[in-house]
Formats: sequence, structure tokens, C-alpha cells
Amino acid sequence: MKVKAAVAHAPQQRLTIEQVDLEGPKAGEVLVEIKATSVCHTDAYTLSGADPEGLFPAILGHEGAGIVAEVGPEVKSLKPGDRVIPLYVPECRHCKFCLSGRTNLCQAIRKTQGQGMMPDGTSRFSVGGTRLYHYMGTSTFSNYTVVPEIALAKIREDAPLDKVCLIGCGVTTGIGAVINTAKVRVGDNVVVFGLGAVGLNVIQGARLSGANMIVGVDINPGKKAIAEKLGMTHFVNPKEVEGDLVPYLVDLTDGGADYAFECIGNVNVMRQALECCHKGWGTCVIVGVAGAGEEISTRPFQLVTGRTWKGTAFGGVKGRTELPKIVDWYMDGKIILDDFITQVMPIEEINTAFELMEEGKAIRSVLTF
Ligand code: APR
Ligand code: ZN
Repeated sequence: MKVKAAVAHAPQQRLTIEQVDLEGPKAGEVLVEIKATSVCHTDAYTLSGADPEGLFPAILGHEGAGIVAEVGPEVKSLKPGDRVIPLYVPECRHCKFCLSGRTNLCQAIRKTQGQGMMPDGTSRFSVGGTRLYHYMGTSTFSNYTVVPEIALAKIREDAPLDKVCLIGCGVTTGIGAVINTAKVRVGDNVVVFGLGAVGLNVIQGARLSGANMIVGVDINPGKKAIAEKLGMTHFVNPKEVEGDLVPYLVDLTDGGADYAFECIGNVNVMRQALECCHKGWGTCVIVGVAGAGEEISTRPFQLVTGRTWKGTAFGGVKGRTELPKIVDWYMDGKIILDDFITQVMPIEEINTAFELMEEGKAIRSVLTF
């Protein structure tokens, strides 16, 4: 079939809206009509050419929501008309990782997903006879996409897709980091570095968990108002702190954070996030993604004295099992999504969405088809 997609032909080039050929779903695959997708930093990172695993030409996009249009042979858990959120971290429920009970990092289709291919090693997308790569197993910058059954979370019928698309990445990453990875408890003091979509969702996850102090750290004071609305209790702008930031934060939190979250992807801030943790038990969770090849450092004494450094991808969330619950939280008013959507625009304006993100003018732009 012919579909409308934003094609990334090469690094640093503007995306072009084109009619693309899409083959139907094969065994274990599902054709999804994407109704809304947002743009995330990972898309921009790949498009910049800095991502060593980036493949071109490709159809990017991984934060979307849609409706099942057709299922391939052997698909059992989904039927046409089901509302779904594509998962860049799938959940096969059979592999060693899924069965471990210790991680959400299902490896069932990891290899082919990293190669920009469907699990059978081929692509469903092409244009003028040229093969296009899939991206993160999702390729949501297209009004139709083919996704493996194990990479689709079925959600409730009444969920507004132009809002819950955010649950496909940033929202889940932030809230999951608090609830699944850190397991913040009532009364804990939390410090959050970086108040973009990810950090703001750490804040609302911390609020949900009953945290005591929720300290937001950002060099952009423009983030203060929305962060407060989501539950931040104290705002710290590092540019306005006299002296070193770490002792300032340790003092503010009466000895250090029970949990600190790095939501920027800056290796220097990752060190600050660890070192502002409470002696004896404080845990730093790395959520932001640093550039390829970058390294973190600290004095080992920081760990010997009881601090823990850990990380999380997609908030440690098993998508097929847990996303329906996060959608319920939104529908029940327990979490906010609408305030993250700073722009809504047609897919034709996708390059503008990228520009707004680069300029820091968007939390999330939602593109509709
Ligand atoms: N100290 C404090 N705050 C900073 C610093 C710094 N040194 N550098 C940047 N920030 C702030 C920015 O002002 C911005 O508000 O961090 C925030 C980052 O937000 P976004 O750029 O909107 O990023 P977001 O979408 O939240 O993603 C954050 O998670 O998924 C990953 O790849 C993504 O690594 C990125 C991170
Ligand atoms: Zn698995």
C-alpha cells in the first residue's frame, strides 16, 4: 500500500514528506495506522548523524499511538480496531530477559531492530524501489507502520491517541525511573536534574510516590512554573548558586538526596547527581542518554560510602504489561500529559517540530496525520 511518511534520507537533512510503499504484515506482525506521534531527542540525535547506529534512508519516530488496521498470520493478542502504543522496548514474555523478573530489556528482536529491520531481517518500507530502514522497531513518522506483535501495548478504547502517544517514551521513562527503578518511598527526598519531558515526569512520579522534597535543578528558569504544577517543591538554578552545586544540594536536602535522577544526558551532571546523594544509602539513577563514547567518573569513595549508581531504559517498564496502567492513570487524572504538549501540528510541519525542540522552545510537539 501507499502511505504518507516523513523520510530521513541522510544525516542533517530535512525530512521530506513522501508517498512510500509499505508491505503488509507478515507472520507475527501488525499493520498500525498511526494517529499521532511526538518528536523526541533520540530522533534528533539519530538525524544529527552522531548516532553510530543510525541508518539511512529511514523512517524515524518512536513516540506514537495508533489503531490496528490489519494483523498478519499467527498474531493472537491483537485485532483490527485495537488501540495501541508501539514499543521500542518490546516484551516477548519468553526470552531470558523477560523471564528473569529483573529487567524490561527484552532481547527477542534486539538484533534485527538495531539493524533497522523487521524480525525476519527485511524491511516493509521502500520508496521508488529503494529500501527504507525501520527505526527503533516503531517508525511512527508514517501514517501506517508495521510493528511486531510483541512490540505493541494494547490500551483502552477511550484513550485520546493525540495525548497518550507521549506514554510511548518520555512519560514512561520518567515515571518508570521513579516507580520501577528507584522505587521511591513516601517521605523520600528527591533531586531531579534537567526539567525536560523526562525530568518533569520524574517529578510527577515522585509526587505519585509520596516523596517529601522534590528538588528540580535546571539552568532554564522557564521550567519552574510547570515543574511546580507537577509537584516540584524546590527549584535550583545552578547558575544562581554561589559556590559548588553539590554541597548546596546536600545541605538543602539535609545530608543528601535519597534518590537523584539525571535527565539530561550530561556526564558531568551525572557525577553531580551521584555526589549529591545521601551518604550510606543515596541512589543516583541515570535516565538521560549521553553521547556515544562518553564516560562517567567519580571517586570510588563515593560508592564505598554507600551511594549507588544505576541506570534505566524506558523506565524499567515492561510495555505490554504496564502501559495500560499508565494510560489509566492519565484517564483517572492521576498524571498530567496535556501540559507537556506545547505544540500540535500536521506531520507536514515535522521539520518545524525538530527546530522547536533544538531551540528548547518545545517540551513536546505532537504531530497528527
Ligand atoms: N544543568 C541543569 N540543567 C540542564 C543542564 C545542566 N548542565 N543542561 C541542560 N539542562 C536542562 C535543560 O535546560 C532542559 O530543561 O535539561 C533539560 C533537558 O530537557 P530536554 O532537552 O527537553 O530533554 P528531555 O526530552 O527531557 O530528555 C532528556 O533523556 O531521553 C533522554 O535523550 C534524552 O538525554 C536526553 C534526556
Ligand atoms: Zn523478551
